[in-house]
Amino acid sequence: MEQIELRLELIDPIFSEPPRVRYTMGGEGLYMSSRMAEIREALAGAKLSAGDRFVDLGSGDGRVVFAAAAVGARAMGIEADPTLHDLAEERGRAVREILQAGGASLSIELMRGNFFDHSLKDADVVFYYSGGSPIRQKEIYRKLEEELRPGARLILFRAKIAPEMRMEILPASRPPFHYIFRQGTSQK
Ligand SMILES: C[S@@+](CC[C@H](N)C(=O)[O-])C[C@H]1O[C@@H](n2cnc3c(N)ncnc32)[C@H](O)[C@@H]1O
Repeated sequence: MEQIELRLELIDPIFSEPPRVRYTMGGEGLYMSSRMAEIREALAGAKLSAGDRFVDLGSGDGRVVFAAAAVGARAMGIEADPTLHDLAEERGRAVREILQAGGASLSIELMRGNFFDHSLKDADVVFYYSGGSPIRQKEIYRKLEEELRPGARLILFRAKIAPEMRMEILPASRPPFHYIFRQGTSQK
């Protein structure tokens, strides 16, 4: 546990610039970077563990993916914006250099594309920090409900209110910072 904390602290300085905000995807998406301390708390609340399959939907500069990989998860991020995807690749090289020098073995995959095109059925933990239109949000909530397997957790980051879903809200939720949901045994 201490080793994981240390790894997370080692990569923090790469992401220390003030929060950025800008539109992406021709105005349909909104990029806002999240704070590392809040990411860590959300990942711990979802009980992300070594070996878990983790996906960040709309991964920006990759910081959430790297934090999940530092925990030992098989971490993937999907980002539509090409500039942010390239920035994530660049930051990923810095993260790998720091953490692999300390002996960590990392599993990181950064994909450029639309997350609606990817199945989430194998994921153990999904992170979603929305910035897009409310219509697209409803679509993604539906996809999550339909595809997440029983026991998978969903971190809804910076959601002002908990959306109505069949998934269970876990006590580790800390609104307005994050809600954590768990898919139940029945998908109905
Ligand atoms: C609020 S930012 C979150 C960035 C990162 N997850 C973080 O927490 O620092 C949302 C990101 O999702 C991306 N995005 C929105 N819709 C997307 C889609 N359908 N497919 C892929 N990326 C998308 C946006 O370009 C933006 O970078």
